[in-house]
Amino acid sequence: MTSLDKKTRGRTSHGRLRALDVYLVHQERELLLRSEGPWARAAFVDVGFGEHPWTTLESAEAFRELHPGLPVLGVELESSRVEAAQAHADALTHFRQGGFELPLHSGESVRLIRAMNLLRGYRPEEVPGIHQKLGGALLEGGLLVEGSTDTPGAILVTHLLRRVPEGLSREALLFHTDFSRGFAPVLFRDWMPRDFRRRVKPGEPIQTFFSDWTAAWQEAREAGHTEPPEAFRHSVFRLASRVQGIVTDAWLLDHGYLLWKPPGGVFP
Ligand SMILES: C[S@@+](CC[C@H](N)C(=O)[O-])C[C@H]1O[C@@H](n2cnc3c(N)ncnc32)[C@H](O)[C@@H]1O
Repeated sequence: MTSLDKKTRGRTSHGRLRALDVYLVHQERELLLRSEGPWARAAFVDVGFGEHPWTTLESAEAFRELHPGLPVLGVELESSRVEAAQAHADALTHFRQGGFELPLHSGESVRLIRAMNLLRGYRPEEVPGIHQKLGGALLEGGLLVEGSTDTPGAILVTHLLRRVPEGLSREALLFHTDFSRGFAPVLFRDWMPRDFRRRVKPGEPIQTFFSDWTAAWQEAREAGHTEPPEAFRHSVFRLASRVQGIVTDAWLLDHGYLLWKPPGGVFP
């Protein structure tokens, strides 16, 4: 355990991260499939899998539909959770005790790290150091996904951070809803990643983003797009005319994803 790691509750639920799996399989197909040089055995690492390794196993199944030989490593601070998870280990699936300093063995490499629903107990000022520590384990081109969801996984907001030659780039923010709670941009406010969680307030750039999205959503509704999926889709089209870097790909919008890739990266 390093000075950054902290014990937290381990609650998770089946299917909680399924929308993220679907996104990654669709949008990060190349990352999941790469197999040259060190990528041949490069793992997916799930940090903080919780009391039960359900979401790790669900992701392993989803990603292995693309890449059957993908190594998967579940990492947990709590040793009792690691012991219980061993019942699900196999030749390609491992569970190890560890923290942000990932417990990798010599010769192991990493293509994708997921750290979902784990930074709530950490201070926002600690987040950049945690991102750097985790991102340091990635191969160049690899992805770190860190964010939050509600318990069923109906609402999700996450950072997408890419390992680039200069370090770790804050490439994008991803928002998703399955519309089971309707739709309004404010739905996402309480599920922002830790570093933005309490910053949706006047004077903060993330508040400007929410104000723009809310105005775009109100216009969409006034134009008759009142059903949640349509209100979402048309709010994103309108938002794209105000804010740079909004991705308006049809698949993303049809499936309830807003991907925001601001030029120059997501502000800190
Ligand atoms: C709320 S659970 C999240 C489970 C699952 N990732 C999910 O999204 O549903 C958070 C887990 O992260 C673990 N955790 C917290 N800090 C950690 C760290 N630095 N390294 C590894 N695991 C950590 C906790 O022990 C806990 O089991």
